[in-house]
Amino acid sequence: MAGRYQQVYDAAMADPEAFWAEAAAELHWDKPWQQVLDASNPPFYRWFVGAETNTCYNALDRHIAAGHGDRVALIYDSPVTGTVRSFTTLELRDRVAKLAGAMKAHGVTRGDRVIIYMAMTPEAAMAMLACARLGAIHSVVFGGFAPRELATRIDDARPVMIIASSCGLEPGRVVEYKPLLDQAIEIAAHKPKHCLIFQRPMYEGPMQAGRDLDFDAEVAAAAAADCVPVAATDPLYVLYTSGTTGVPKGVVRDNGGHMVALNWSMRNIYGMKPGDVFWAASDVGWVVGHSYIVYAPLIHGCTSVLYEGKPVGTPDAGAYWRVIQQHRVAALFTAPTAFRAIKKEDPKAELLKQYDLSQFRTLFLAGERADPDTVHWAEDSLHRPVIDHWWQTETGWPMAANCMGIEVLPVKYGSPTKVVPGYDVQVLDDDGQAVKVGDIGNIVVKLPLPPGTLPTLWHNDEGFRKSYLARFPGYYNTGDAGFIDEDGYLFIMSRTDDIINVAGHRLSTGGMEEVLSAHPDVAECAVVGVADALKGQVPLGFVVLKSGVSRAEDQITRELVLLVREKIGPVAAFKQAVVVKRLPKTRSGKILRGTMQKIADAQDYRLPATIDDPAILGEIKDALQPLGYARQP
Ligand code: COA
Ligand code: AMP
Repeated sequence: MAGRYQQVYDAAMADPEAFWAEAAAELHWDKPWQQVLDASNPPFYRWFVGAETNTCYNALDRHIAAGHGDRVALIYDSPVTGTVRSFTTLELRDRVAKLAGAMKAHGVTRGDRVIIYMAMTPEAAMAMLACARLGAIHSVVFGGFAPRELATRIDDARPVMIIASSCGLEPGRVVEYKPLLDQAIEIAAHKPKHCLIFQRPMYEGPMQAGRDLDFDAEVAAAAAADCVPVAATDPLYVLYTSGTTGVPKGVVRDNGGHMVALNWSMRNIYGMKPGDVFWAASDVGWVVGHSYIVYAPLIHGCTSVLYEGKPVGTPDAGAYWRVIQQHRVAALFTAPTAFRAIKKEDPKAELLKQYDLSQFRTLFLAGERADPDTVHWAEDSLHRPVIDHWWQTETGWPMAANCMGIEVLPVKYGSPTKVVPGYDVQVLDDDGQAVKVGDIGNIVVKLPLPPGTLPTLWHNDEGFRKSYLARFPGYYNTGDAGFIDEDGYLFIMSRTDDIINVAGHRLSTGGMEEVLSAHPDVAECAVVGVADALKGQVPLGFVVLKSGVSRAEDQITRELVLLVREKIGPVAAFKQAVVVKRLPKTRSGKILRGTMQKIADAQDYRLPATIDDPAILGEIKDALQPLGYARQP
């Protein structure tokens, strides 16, 4: 007989509408749906059409109505400020309702966009929930992005309000956000009417009269706002993510399908029940933070930990164990890079011995490939299941996992296990034909995608179609390459585009190339992601200088590093560029980035048949070796 995983998977495939309608019944709807799935306008699909609901109501008020108002909803743990604060569901709801009242008093209404540019404090989660309460659409921008990136998002989302922290705290430095925000608004063509500034004592930003409002004073003076019912298909948020160029894509998330999918995932993928403590050690600026710091744990009635710190250095490599013990964390979700950082500092996990982790059940890893070494180390140290799972900003929740709440399947190292019920993942060759079992190809998902995944890009149906649907008609193209083995286990091998993954953060090398090309001394350039023991990948720039440039090469490369930091932000982690005489190309002029990356990583490569001048590959190797690349380990 088929195991429980297979039964659930088959049920979701056989009758997706019945499957998701049953999952939706646990939540509160102001108005029921007329159709579970509207498939009348392919390739666009909508879930829970005709229904009205409110995500904030389902995350907070619903639990209060059920008598769980004094259950702790959020724990803020900030080793960088020495603060630990807890909020019951009632306290969090009241603060969110007042914040929503303050926003409403300044004109924020259903359908308006609000950009959130905040550090990892509870006010960031409150701002997201307050938008949801009003039916406004939030767009959170990660604090490590530079003003120019923030400006691009302001111009695309056209927010009526921006909610920002005065500063963020990185180990050893205060990152002053307010001046970055002011610069971004100056660059942007669109000007928000108001900025609500959450002043932190480490740095208080200058306020512009008429535009800037003090967060604390406004909230104190505001009347609580009620939840506004919105269409299930209305956007809850837009989250910008790296595309194949410097222009980010605004991934849209709806209200109804999103809450249904996240609530389902908490029980079935993460094995959580209401009252359990769940900790996603990420940032609200990323999709992991949206789904698994804020919405999923709260919707499911769990306690969520919001952590303002690092895995190491705040104060040491025992930081994660301390948080798990102190807050009785049942499941931790983080990126493999965090565990590589801990392993590097404390290879024998000595610090772990000081803590009692008896409440801890499972470690979940995602955001980048979970290398078997790191998974083994985590298993040997924690003596708990270590679950690699695979998803992306676009899907909002996992596409492949070992579903802890359904059936614990044997682990195969290097694989995020099997396709999650609701997704029909397939592997196609470049002509759109299914590959043989075990062969590598393009990983796609047959349409329609399940609830909670992106219905489109913000104000850009055509971009959605072009980016994800055009290549393989009838399928969503994930941009990842890999294979499914004879047991149905999925293996994710690489991206099929120019996106790289740095410390679990997704970045576009195309965006960095645009910045390098703008330097007056650069004739042409290429950026590739090279292997890094801590961050998985880091970007490395190759530049060809314009003829006649005689300035010192190391001066120019230093300028290039600074330029990427200034234009994209520190999150790009762009620290190295190398000057080369020429770039290797095909005869039709395509730069051979993949080959350069293999040379840098000292991997075997096949000489591309269409290469213009093979001698250039030797030049690339010679230029890389002084930097420590292109050497056999
Ligand atoms: N605001 C401003 N700057 C920020 C920032 C923020 N919110 N977050 C990061 N930065 C800066 C960092 O200070 C660093 O700057 P630097 O070049 O001056 O050192 C740069 O952006 C790169 O940051 P990061 O990639 O995080 O590297 P790091 O060296 O500071 O830390 C790790 C490395 C592994 C410890 C860290 O990436 C980590 O904790 N990762 C695991 C969790 C995670 O974030 N997962 C994401 C998806 S699940
Ligand atoms: P992001 O949108 O930032 O979450 O990045 C998504 C991308 O990260 C995916 O398309 C993959 O390339 C990569 N990724 C995420 N999780 C995994 C995983 N478990 N294994 C391998 N790659 C992953």
